[in-house]
Amino acid sequence: MKPAPKTYAVKSFGCQMNVYDGDRMAELMAAQGLTQADPTEADLVVLNTCHIRERATEKVYSDIGRLRKEALRDIGRAPMIAVAGCVAQAEGAEIVRRAKVDVVVGPQAYHNLPELVARAARGESALDTDMPVDMKFGHLPARRRVPPSAFLTVQEGCDKFCTYCVVPYTRGAEVSRGWDQIVDEAKALVDAGARELTLLGQNVNAWSDDTRGLHDLIAALAEIPALARIRYTTSHPNDMTQGLIDAHGDIEKLMPFLHLPVQSGSDRVLQAMNRSHSRDSYLRILDRVRARRPDIALSGDFIVGFPGETDADFEETLSLVDAVGYAQAYSFKYSPRPGTPAATMAEQIPEAVMDERLQRLQAALNRDQAAFNAATVGRTCQLLLERPGKLPGQLIGKSPWLQSVHLVSDAAIGDLVEVTLAEAGANSMLGTLAG
Ligand code: SAH
Ligand code: SF4
Ligand code: F3S
Repeated sequence: MKPAPKTYAVKSFGCQMNVYDGDRMAELMAAQGLTQADPTEADLVVLNTCHIRERATEKVYSDIGRLRKEALRDIGRAPMIAVAGCVAQAEGAEIVRRAKVDVVVGPQAYHNLPELVARAARGESALDTDMPVDMKFGHLPARRRVPPSAFLTVQEGCDKFCTYCVVPYTRGAEVSRGWDQIVDEAKALVDAGARELTLLGQNVNAWSDDTRGLHDLIAALAEIPALARIRYTTSHPNDMTQGLIDAHGDIEKLMPFLHLPVQSGSDRVLQAMNRSHSRDSYLRILDRVRARRPDIALSGDFIVGFPGETDADFEETLSLVDAVGYAQAYSFKYSPRPGTPAATMAEQIPEAVMDERLQRLQAALNRDQAAFNAATVGRTCQLLLERPGKLPGQLIGKSPWLQSVHLVSDAAIGDLVEVTLAEAGANSMLGTLAG
């Protein structure tokens, strides 16, 4: 038994939806009267975990061990530990058995965190990995601290079952949050200082409410006067409707950026992945988006070394990259996830081959990112200032194309300023105030 905690810390790993969830859990704890502290000093530490790749589970167990050791060293006692997120969902009671943590809570159940913490303090078992039909969102407290660019989860879960992926198992089926709830939260975020909202979902463009799609929601949010910018992520090619593509041409507040993962350029591999789109259908979607919004910055996700991927398959991925010209992208080595169909497929690819392919792919993606950034030099655009830079007087903001731009100015964080993109670096741009 541990006393009821008075201080808390939340550590989030993984995707932006986990960041959103981590912030919500922090607010839940704050609403219970707990104050925030460093992870090594807090009475309660929430590890909000990710299960997407390589050794995720082992990492959580070693994090738990390290946390306990550091807390014992620094404050002479171990904290109450709550494991949340996708590893909690996947491992469930196994975590309690192996690591003797106090609370295990899945990504669809964390609105019950206060109750679970209270149970743990009474020495009772505290595990909740249910996926209730009534979503957690209705149970969450109002939000407090809001940065200029804020996340807003509108959709959760995935029905796509790509053969390599754990998300359909850890996050459950696709569910869309209700229209009114989203609009209310958006208004509250904007009232609290957000100038930009990024709508989140594992398949955000699958958002719908029988009659309306994501583009209708974006159009409605664009009516909020003090909201300057809207983004959304992550999208699946099959849910890229004409309405959403048109929105990129019609809605000024919708930023010219699209993250549309493709994973591979080979139809053979795409089929084995159960992606249910082809190389060609993917490229045609991008053509249609570019027709409506010529300056759109494109991003994607790639997996190298999926079971059975040949040199020829990989070359097709490189040629797809050449054909698209991504502004930025993420690339990963295939990692067999226990319980997914691909994990037991024949012809798992040797690590050395994956390493070599990843290096070549990343070289191509870096080349294209540099080319994209160089091509924007000289453009004048709005910059949303999000945080201070390292140098005195320096601020860092985002361009419409999601580039990080450094600027020296006496403007304030949260301001939108007009800048000229003056210089391109490897991962960021230098801007100067326009006019
Ligand atoms: N729903 C989104 C994001 C899913 S997870 C989508 O479909 O695009 C984010 C990325 O992690 C995926 O796009 C994929 O590139 C990568 N990923 C998922 N499972 C993986 C695995 N088993 N091995 C390597 N990368 C993986
Ligand atoms: Fe995973 Fe595929 Fe669903 Fe994306 S679409 S979350 S990669 S199963
Ligand atoms: Fe990771 Fe779960 Fe997100 S596995 S990527 S935290 S949905």
